[in-house]
Amino acid sequence: MSENPILNNIDFEVEQTPFYYYDMALLDRTLDAVNEASADARYKVHYAVKANADMPILKAVMAKGLGADTVSGGEIQAAIEAGFKPEDIVFAGVGKSDREIELALEAGISCFNVESKAELAVIAEIASRMNRVADIALRINPDIDAHTHHYITTGLAENKFGINMELLDDVLASVAKYPSVKLTGLHFHIGSQITDNAPYALLCERINALQEQFEAKGYRLATINVGGGLGIDYDDPDRNPIPDFKSYFDVFRKHLILREGQELHFELGRSIVAQCGSLITRVLYVKEGVKKRFAIVDAGFNDLIRPALYQAHHKIQNLTSTASEEEVYDVVGPICESSDVFSEDERLPLTHRGDILALRSAGAYGRIMASQYNCRPIARGVYKD
Ligand code: LLP
Repeated sequence: MSENPILNNIDFEVEQTPFYYYDMALLDRTLDAVNEASADARYKVHYAVKANADMPILKAVMAKGLGADTVSGGEIQAAIEAGFKPEDIVFAGVGKSDREIELALEAGISCFNVESKAELAVIAEIASRMNRVADIALRINPDIDAHTHHYITTGLAENKFGINMELLDDVLASVAKYPSVKLTGLHFHIGSQITDNAPYALLCERINALQEQFEAKGYRLATINVGGGLGIDYDDPDRNPIPDFKSYFDVFRKHLILREGQELHFELGRSIVAQCGSLITRVLYVKEGVKKRFAIVDAGFNDLIRPALYQAHHKIQNLTSTASEEEVYDVVGPICESSDVFSEDERLPLTHRGDILALRSAGAYGRIMASQYNCRPIARGVYKD
């Protein structure tokens, strides 16, 4: 029998491909590592539900004591269903609908991360109508280049996210006008898949300066939320199955000056769930072209869109081939679009119809971003301890 736990755990005669396979033991070890590295009574990690909202995943995260960072009414409901306490849920996003704001207030979530003066006015109006006071954090755009893919960088001035620092005074004047909102914190997020900690140190310097400005104006902030973004090793998930959480949290320990009684919040998504998931797919055909050789698989970009959308590369393994000889393949899906390519010039052991491939590091922004394009069903998740 093969050494690969995926092959050992799955009966491929029964299980139809494609599907997402989750190594729940790895998820648990990852969560333990997060908790160990962030052990400090003032630190609180909220899991970014957008990375993966599968119920077994949410429940595993909740069981380890993390909070939930949500960006929609649907995510708030999923978090509550998984057992997160409302006071451990924060709600972010540039476009919260009236219905979502009502739902969040009804549920009693802990904080709205507010991104504009226009949104502030609507939250204040709805909270007042419902006889509530909404705790809010202002999301500030710190204008920091996180050196990541331009689709997933969020902290630059020209981005749609956050409140531009020049507009802050104006927004603060608004906050003071509304008795139904209470400013409790500041929120930041500079981007995703950040593999170099230097931008985080820069963020800390920005926050230190801002805190002084806020104090000079007489504000005391209960929380600072630095968002998420810690990257993972897509090239070699077996060498680095658990990200270096210690170095990440140490940057904040070293550079961020917290005030007496202040809490520091984090919103990690990818670094928690990416490595525990793989998309498992079967080779349908090996097609010999004139210049290329294609391995056509039964998963497509509707199952995993990251390669097509961000030119991302997920490590591909042939789990069943025992050949020692290798060959170069373009690994492509069945969807009728030329962007349905998982990898070009991928070196794999000799691959044949029926072989099982794993696209690794697919636990974050994989299944949750799946669509039914071409009337293809959403691939199910298989969760193994
Ligand atoms: N907080 C905020 C405000 C965010 O916008 C995000 C991600 C996170 C936290 C979590 O970031 P993480 O720790 O997962 O990097 N679909 C893209 C990634 C989009 C990230 C959007 N925001 C991808 O597949 O690479």
